[in-house]
Amino acid sequence: MSRRAVRGRRADVSAKAWAGRFDAPTARIVEEFTSSLAVDRALYPHDVAGSRAHVKALVRAKLLTPREGRRLDAGLVRVLAELDAGRFRVLPGDEDIHMAIERRLTALIGPLGGKLHTGRSRNDQVALDLRLWLRAECAAVDTALAALQRALVRVARRHERAILPGYTHLQRAQPVLLAHHLLAYHEMLGRDRGRFHDCRARADELPLGAGALAGAGFPLDRPYVAKLLGFARVARNSMDAVADRDAAVEFLAGAAIAAVHLSRLAEELVLWATEEFGFVTLPDAFATGSSMMPQKKNPDVAELVRGRTGRVVGALVALLTTLKGLPLAYNRDLQEDKALLFDAAATLRGCLDVLAAMLPALRFETARMAEAADGLLLATDVADALVERGVPFRRAHEIVGALVRHCLATGTGLRDLDAATLRRHAPRLDPALLRGLTPARSVARRRVLGGTAPAEVRRQLIRASREARA
Ligand code: ARG
Repeated sequence: MSRRAVRGRRADVSAKAWAGRFDAPTARIVEEFTSSLAVDRALYPHDVAGSRAHVKALVRAKLLTPREGRRLDAGLVRVLAELDAGRFRVLPGDEDIHMAIERRLTALIGPLGGKLHTGRSRNDQVALDLRLWLRAECAAVDTALAALQRALVRVARRHERAILPGYTHLQRAQPVLLAHHLLAYHEMLGRDRGRFHDCRARADELPLGAGALAGAGFPLDRPYVAKLLGFARVARNSMDAVADRDAAVEFLAGAAIAAVHLSRLAEELVLWATEEFGFVTLPDAFATGSSMMPQKKNPDVAELVRGRTGRVVGALVALLTTLKGLPLAYNRDLQEDKALLFDAAATLRGCLDVLAAMLPALRFETARMAEAADGLLLATDVADALVERGVPFRRAHEIVGALVRHCLATGTGLRDLDAATLRRHAPRLDPALLRGLTPARSVARRRVLGGTAPAEVRRQLIRASREARA
């Protein structure tokens, strides 16, 4: 088939930028299969920003006259305005956002549009766009993480004295302050923020100028372009620059870890909202009912936060799997990175936002928590009292173990053990000491740095408020 026939037959689609080498048009099913436009359309602000910087580099390298540079720039601004306003018309032949923007640019300003891609490949172009997107997204995720940290601090401050059982193996272990429990999540989110910060810092390199893989064939001033786009460095190896997706993997790893943190918090909320625990009451605005059982109030928000973790972790595994067998340099497989990144980022941010909104709206049933935090979980404090009287800890553990067995067998509380029983098991303990056992005294003992004593938790709260503001 002649070339004219190819072009003539498909007047409804844009001519492919690479049509010169081909005799026959792309099959419709192939166009549909290979197109990434529906996904990478989200990159358009970054694509235009990258192209505008590239135009400046072309002018600087005297590959464009200043006048041509200005016309190209004005054209790009017009395309951007169309995209911003939702007026941009996608054609069936548009393979991806890069081709669509260039096609529209040329339609607007004429053949000069064909000079934009001088010294550039879509391989370094898409690598650039992705880094610009990652940079913005790391900042957005940081903002969302900080907002959830602030919500945790707010709730912790509101219940500074509330005590609940701390658990290990999901068995009541020792009393802890609710604020201490909540601040544990603050710590996790702080590490998450650090990971996104690191990801951003390592990704702070300009890939543009790498060309398809071997480096641009024109004297483009890459440090100049890096500066225009606010990158700290220039990628030093053109093959790595177009093949590398480490920044995307790091982002997804950070997102997966953060999502796992949120999932653990969500799981606790699900447990705490049960009748069995009864530690929190869900506000109506954040709960859902059952279509069949009229009495039900379900923690669907927390369940979905927990459930969506699978998607974020899945995105990390999917991208690593995609990268695993790829030879250098660019391969079309790499196109799959964006759907994974965009979905994981949106999912994570959605979870962060909804938790930040829900936490302050929860009612913490502090009386019920306090009640659950009293009883045999003060056994460690009895052992500690024996240690203070010179008994080696292992022996003290044994003695208190026997007391606990006695309590369970007779239905007695630790505080109510009589003098005769004590004399039999632990002669160094007097009933008055046991009567003084309370969850409040138990937490107050734990004044070590990082412990659950009110004074220490107050100190950590002050630090946390400062950090969350930063
Ligand atoms: N849509 C492609 C991607 O997202 C752009 C690069 C395509 N390059 C190529 N030579 N086919 O990775």
